[in-house]
Amino acid sequence: MTMRRLKCLPRFFKYLLKNDLSNERGRSVSSFSQGEISLQTFGLKRLHNEPIFSANQQVHNQLFHSTTTSLKMRRQEYSSGLLSGRALQQQTAECIDNLPGPSNISFQDLVLQRSKTLKVKPKPDAQTLKFGAVCTDHMLQITWTEAHGWKAPAINPLGPLTLHPCSQVLHYAIECFEGMKAFRGKDGCVRLFRPDMNMHRLFCSAARIGLPHFDKVALLECIKELLRVEKDWIPSEEGFSLYIRPTMIATDSVLGLAPTKEAMLFVVLSPVGPYFPSGLKPIRLLVDTKHARAFPGGVGNNKVGGNYAPTLVPQKQAAERGCSQVLYVLQDGLGKGGLVGEAGAMNLFVLLRSTNLNEELELVTPALDGTILPGVTRDSVLRLSKSFGNMKVSERQLYFNEIEDAASEGRVIEVFGTGTACMIQPISGFVKEDGTEISLKFDSKAAEYWLRKLPGSLSNCNQDYEPISLCGRLTRKLLDIYYGYTEHPWSVVVN
Ligand code: COI
Repeated sequence: MTMRRLKCLPRFFKYLLKNDLSNERGRSVSSFSQGEISLQTFGLKRLHNEPIFSANQQVHNQLFHSTTTSLKMRRQEYSSGLLSGRALQQQTAECIDNLPGPSNISFQDLVLQRSKTLKVKPKPDAQTLKFGAVCTDHMLQITWTEAHGWKAPAINPLGPLTLHPCSQVLHYAIECFEGMKAFRGKDGCVRLFRPDMNMHRLFCSAARIGLPHFDKVALLECIKELLRVEKDWIPSEEGFSLYIRPTMIATDSVLGLAPTKEAMLFVVLSPVGPYFPSGLKPIRLLVDTKHARAFPGGVGNNKVGGNYAPTLVPQKQAAERGCSQVLYVLQDGLGKGGLVGEAGAMNLFVLLRSTNLNEELELVTPALDGTILPGVTRDSVLRLSKSFGNMKVSERQLYFNEIEDAASEGRVIEVFGTGTACMIQPISGFVKEDGTEISLKFDSKAAEYWLRKLPGSLSNCNQDYEPISLCGRLTRKLLDIYYGYTEHPWSVVVN
């Protein structure tokens, strides 16, 4: 351990408790007993056999006092399995070296300046409401400087940003963002879905590109306040929601490529309906081995803008061939058809019937090997599918030939993509670069069967006698949680 690290240990404890770094390396959060956070997780030597709370009682007392709220919340999350350590394991040690700046985001200091004019709110109509085309009346803005840390957060009327043309974000794409949604249930309550995961992913994305750290709990409180201000914009129709786009950009006006000394965090909101105009209708994917979305050692596991711009040309090529999205397949292992990555901006899932005698079902998604975004919906689908208990659920390497072979043997039950924007998107086929088409079954009747179930009634289902449609069942289950038809610890009510 370096002297620098030794010196900053008390500060590091505080940071760890506040920022939930415990799940960033090597160990699943769910494996921690309540209140125990081990330094071994960070590759640092443990000071004592006791949990760190008692290893340094003085530090503990000091810290526990100052972080009571967030720590209490974290403990509840650990015990309810809210935070997924595995999904976030890929995150990096850089977080440790880059301790927070002089002052952090403070919810107490938030100031609100209301807009004098309010826009007419669009109707929740899937045909006319284009994803992300309309923003609400207000935005959250927080600026940061290396010297002074985070300034007081402000909710301002939505308006243009003033940026110097040399701002680093404009030249080196030093920016990261999140996608999350607020839902209004039939009970009138506004709910967020697993927002802690978005805050944590933003934190890790920022750390990866040298943007400042921030207090995740405080930022979430500021976002909740923005939602309170804009509550009338949150649609109540099922399938509609208010999309939340937290974004952080490097605003330092210097053309030299160096870590930024100035940054801005802003959050805009947009009422949205279904991401794909086809709704739950399946789409086709173009299998692309020529363009890589992500690669080992890159930033595929972070939500940075630089991952998205290069997908636009492949996306256009896919559209020219009658496909809605691209399936990125890494040339690595091309002998086996290539290593399957993501489907456009979605994580890919394949439900297969295995070749063994029991013909058991296996749900497969590419493992979080650093090239895959740790999607919130991805993690939720994995956890829910495991809880159904009627299939094996695997995060592993998936080569395209495996899908192709299984499809030709009639063993592919369903293929779908997941993401915050699209939720669950069934896939009806692949088009390969040589023009070969691989058609997949999609049992729309089975999907409809699950979708038409009474909201909140899934716990009464008898899956042994019901048609298999994971797409339909997961969609119904997620809608039940999003809109509060069923109580669930993933749902966070905004009072
Ligand atoms: C999301 O699913 O929230 C995303 O950020 C994807 C984006 C291309 C809309």
